[in-house]
Amino acid sequence: MTATTQRAASTLPVGAAKRAAVQAMFDRIAPRYDVLNRLLTGGLDQRWRRIALDAIAVGPGDAVLDLACGTGNLAEQAIARGADALGIDFARGMLRGAQRRRVSARFAQADAAALPLPDSSIDAVVCGFALRNFTALPPVFAELARVLTPGGRIALLDVDRPPSRLVAAGHSLYFDRVVPRIGGWLSDRSAYAYLPRSTSYLPAEPALLAMLRDAGFRDVHKRRFLLGAAQLLTARRAGTVR
Ligand SMILES: C[S@@+](CC[C@H](N)C(=O)[O-])C[C@H]1O[C@@H](n2cnc3c(N)ncnc32)[C@H](O)[C@@H]1O
Repeated sequence: MTATTQRAASTLPVGAAKRAAVQAMFDRIAPRYDVLNRLLTGGLDQRWRRIALDAIAVGPGDAVLDLACGTGNLAEQAIARGADALGIDFARGMLRGAQRRRVSARFAQADAAALPLPDSSIDAVVCGFALRNFTALPPVFAELARVLTPGGRIALLDVDRPPSRLVAAGHSLYFDRVVPRIGGWLSDRSAYAYLPRSTSYLPAEPALLAMLRDAGFRDVHKRRFLLGAAQLLTARRAGTVR
């Protein structure tokens, strides 16, 4: 962790305070969430979602969980591939956004660490830009291992900090300064200031990959996008494929 990310981490909420703050924040920014995402990433967010679905070959007949689905962008793309998608999120405002967009998946309000799903009932889990928002990762990864069929696939997308110092400096200028400003003009300044700071919740790569292995995942792989500004984690639940 750099000095900057250490400073950011020390002022961020944890535990129950984090859960309440994150839920209230997404309820607040839901109405303009998609517009801001497209604008701030130049549309790359949707391209990365497509790559995530490609990476684990989501296709016809798959029972897909879009975890922390927000307004259902990943569920929508999964449905377009012939999958049967369920979106779960704890922020009612974000789920209303999915309804407004008429995404034809099923949706439920629940916490990622307590999924209202039977064991071994899901073929693939996709999750977009939510890892750093969870209160703790190991309980969520354990839930994913529980609800997935043996051999079931996961594709977890999130932001990241570029490893090159030069690229990181340019990235920081955009992410830490420009994003909060644009977010403030068009939506909610405090939420879009939290967005870059929340990256410091993410464990470093070796710890993150180890958490997935400890939860019972195999073939754990990380891929970087845009010189390391975003990451995609893919893996398979251990066990014999039916
Ligand atoms: C940055 S948004 C991403 C939304 C969507 N996945 C996407 O790709 O646009 C993060 C989402 O995670 C949800 N979230 C955060 N913590 C959660 C939790 N513990 N349980 C369920 N949803 C959660 C938020 O409500 C929010 O909708």
